Amino acid sequence: MREAGRIAAEARRLAGQLVKPGVVTSQIDKRVREFIVAQSGIPAFLNYRGYPASICVSVNEEVIHGIPSGRKLIDGDIVSIDVGVIKDGYIGDCAATFIAVGASQAANRLIEVTRACFYEGLKFAKVGYRVSDISRAIQTHAEVNGYSVVRDFVGHGVGAAMHEPPEVPNYVERPRKRADPRLVSGMTLAVEPMVNAGTYEVRVQDDGWTVVTMDGKPSAHYENTILITDGEPEILTVCEVP
Ligand code: CO
Repeated sequence: MREAGRIAAEARRLAGQLVKPGVVTSQIDKRVREFIVAQSGIPAFLNYRGYPASICVSVNEEVIHGIPSGRKLIDGDIVSIDVGVIKDGYIGDCAATFIAVGASQAANRLIEVTRACFYEGLKFAKVGYRVSDISRAIQTHAEVNGYSVVRDFVGHGVGAAMHEPPEVPNYVERPRKRADPRLVSGMTLAVEPMVNAGTYEVRVQDDGWTVVTMDGKPSAHYENTILITDGEPEILTVCEVP
């Protein structure tokens, strides 16, 4: 999983470098796919439940699962990129939000708070805490900053399959319907705050994939695959390239 995570994180970095005005989102998909294959990995998203690309590119009010297309990025676009890699049967899953030049201060702040939400959650990614302790930390950090967290999509266990138990919501469910296990050493989780500038409500577009905010306000996403240990959590989607 470290190796899968490294490739996924390097692919995320490459994708981020390609986010520039004038770049077509399907070009980013192609370049990332070629990188993953050159690293002897397999794009985990391609053909997953019929998904037609190797990455997700979600622009502005698109939250997640945006399908790469002929869309050209323009100045100020907020671009969330999600990448999954299979290596030797194990999966690394990660995402981050990038800006094509000229983004507003508001966009920068949304992206920074979303990343910080992940690190707030990570503080509770330790033996003895429960999944909901991660969820609460993420939700609190988003909401004290005036944002909302998406409820209809959640983080997840990850390993030999992309989606394994437990679900890792970015909010505290009341009343609780999901399992809320205690964290144990050896668990591998995809922790992925999806943070909206406005309402937490989202809908899926007619393409069957693209998730957008109901109010059309922007959204950001940040995700890493992590390992629960007896000490500090280890981030597996780490990029070794400077
Ligand atoms: Co994920």
